[in-house]
Amino acid sequence: MVHERTQVAIIGAGPAGLLLGALLARHDIDAVIVEHRSAEYVLARIRAGVLEQTTLDLLREAGVADRCLKEGLTHDGIELSFDGALHRIDFRALTGKHVTVYGQTEVTHDLMQSRAVAGLTTDYEAEDVQIEGFDGEHPVVRYVKNGVPHELACDFIAGCDGYHGICRATVPRDAITTYEKIYPFGWLGVLADVPPVRHELIYANHERGFALCSQRSKTRSRYYVQCSLDDQADQWSDDAFWDELRRRLPVDIAEAVTTGPSIEKSIAPLRSFVAEPMRFGRLFLAGDAAHIVPPTGAKGLNLAATDAGYLARGLAEHCLERSSAGLDHYSARCLARVWKAERFSWWFTSLMHRFPEAGAFGSRLQQAELTYLVGSRSASTALAENYVGLPI
Ligand code: APR
Ligand code: PHB
Repeated sequence: MVHERTQVAIIGAGPAGLLLGALLARHDIDAVIVEHRSAEYVLARIRAGVLEQTTLDLLREAGVADRCLKEGLTHDGIELSFDGALHRIDFRALTGKHVTVYGQTEVTHDLMQSRAVAGLTTDYEAEDVQIEGFDGEHPVVRYVKNGVPHELACDFIAGCDGYHGICRATVPRDAITTYEKIYPFGWLGVLADVPPVRHELIYANHERGFALCSQRSKTRSRYYVQCSLDDQADQWSDDAFWDELRRRLPVDIAEAVTTGPSIEKSIAPLRSFVAEPMRFGRLFLAGDAAHIVPPTGAKGLNLAATDAGYLARGLAEHCLERSSAGLDHYSARCLARVWKAERFSWWFTSLMHRFPEAGAFGSRLQQAELTYLVGSRSASTALAENYVGLPI
């Protein structure tokens, strides 16, 4: 048995756990990250990559923003596609703000790299991870690594282990309330080394279903089409995907799409989920462990980042200033922001997708709302200010 001790035990090395670790290191607070998967596995996951300014500020505070500032693409708006035409929402004109397109994989890579350079401990490939004692003064994390049991004593546990993690699942059922909505479709995504069709992202509402033209760089594109939950990614050939994507775009845009072999192809279900509260004694949930948004609007990574920011500040106040105010307010502060992002992501998803049960009436309402949205400065501003990120 290996006995260890740290101030904060972080479960999960996704963006929430890694960013929290980096922010705590800035305050000289000792933290160990315990991750179930290998570093290679964590880095191979393909996820959205639209960063709000607040997220960029937190990366800067953590000392890991250099590459993002150099290589990230500044986007001043998005385009909505419906009725065979594109309609631009101009974020800069409407809010004075922009977003930065930089893949979550790159964010994760930069955080891992800075952790390795600073010599901070991440225990990858930890098996049978369990947490105990967070309702008292002496929480403990137990896990097995290379067949050897470990016992990590700590002051606090940060549950950053995603939707399927063990932290939320360990909380007694009567202490937690969950809210969930499952959408009756998925997103089929393709990553390809082809130049993006447009300079900015296109969100398309089409009678055949939603489509999204996104990107990772000037030479790498990420495209999605709404698909059935019964579909299997490997049943979709690359050609079938490109054909379906182009059918859902205005003719001139469809003709301009550069196709190529897929590097990655996968189907993701869409879910809205919130667990309340986000604190249980000395256990704090952060990121996907506490909440999921559907990807329309790309809020998942940004919410994980703001949770990590609030938690790092609360822990720093506790450890350095002996004040519990930040930790006491952590759950309420996060949830106020989370529910606004839940509302926006649900609204944008509802506006852009075909819902089997909505019928022709539902589609006509969507068309009316889209026309209103692009024709009204106040409605466009409401979309823009949510997309670029509400103030913290
Ligand atoms: N023990 C240790 N680690 C675990 C366990 C466990 N029992 N279960 C899961 N994990 C790890 C996962 O392997 C993963 O690396 O926790 C990590 C959670 O990372 P994410 O799922 O990326 O969640 P989070 O860090 O909250 O980031 C949220 O990811 O899903 C996207 O859209 C979402 O962009 C958002 C971001
Ligand atoms: C992505 O690039 O993967 C992406 C971008 C925007 C979204 C969702 C996903 O709303």
